[in-house]
Amino acid sequence: MVAVPADRNYDGKGGCVVFPPFVTQKEMDLIEKKFVVRDSDIFVVAYPKSGTTWMEQIVHLMLNNGVQGDKVLSEAVPWVEGANRYQGLDKLLNQQSNPRRFHSHLLYHLMPGVKLSRAKYIYVARNPKDNAVSFYFHSCSKLGYDGTWDEFFDLYIQGKVGYGSFFAHVLDWWKASKNSNNILFVKYEDMKRDLKQAVKTVADFLQVKLDEELWEAITTQSTFESMANNSKANLDWVAQRPQFPKHMRKGIVGDWRNHFTSEQNEIFETIYAKYMKDSDLQFDFGEGVII
Ligand code: A3P
Repeated sequence: MVAVPADRNYDGKGGCVVFPPFVTQKEMDLIEKKFVVRDSDIFVVAYPKSGTTWMEQIVHLMLNNGVQGDKVLSEAVPWVEGANRYQGLDKLLNQQSNPRRFHSHLLYHLMPGVKLSRAKYIYVARNPKDNAVSFYFHSCSKLGYDGTWDEFFDLYIQGKVGYGSFFAHVLDWWKASKNSNNILFVKYEDMKRDLKQAVKTVADFLQVKLDEELWEAITTQSTFESMANNSKANLDWVAQRPQFPKHMRKGIVGDWRNHFTSEQNEIFETIYAKYMKDSDLQFDFGEGVII
């Protein structure tokens, strides 16, 4: 039996943000029992709101000859632990595409096949200040969250949001990526700085040969503007609330400065230093960027 992290039990009472309710112990046990990972499988993984959809788009286009096709991204690169909510685990596992492709927000120790298979895992990480802001808007628009930013900030720094603590998630994957050739660790800010280079890095990792035409097709269709205007990528959510931004909200580095008070920034800096002190992982917070 796989242990779903204890902090998934924050249940919306007391203003906490709900962990996706369909990711229960039962779903996790089903995944452990039925999910036979193939060495050819490709997983896009991220802590929520770190650029998961962005990487899904790049991988999808790369494996689909640069063509978007008919499927929305969440079908083309389906969600492992969300399978029960959407197409069902059997359909997810029997997908027609080869290699199979998936996306997930699971913690490292819960991820199917990550220790024993030769499947490929692309992990996207984003600086946690922008991540927190993006997560707040996501919670309001798609998870029915009614709290204020200040309340959400408190939950976020305590790890009382979906998938638990940012730090636990990212640091485990970072450590694992340093010891495995099957995990590519990519940063949102690097993708933002040089998308074309990021596409090349992913292609090299997946051993996909990029000619100039394919490279260009992937890059141009993976910009924020292009994805924001693409209904296959800028997904509508079942319970999306129209007064809040859509999935492609701003797509920038440094937006946190529009939301963090200086007191919140100080608190965050202290927490960040505590969690990151033993790690060589560094993030770009867009300090010098004009927003
Ligand atoms: P913002 O809310 O800051 O705009 P996820 O897919 O993991 O849920 O992450 C969503 C975040 O990634 C959103 O951030 C979204 O705008 C951003 N994003 C998605 N595609 C992007 C792209 N092509 N370029 C830049 N940011 C992108």
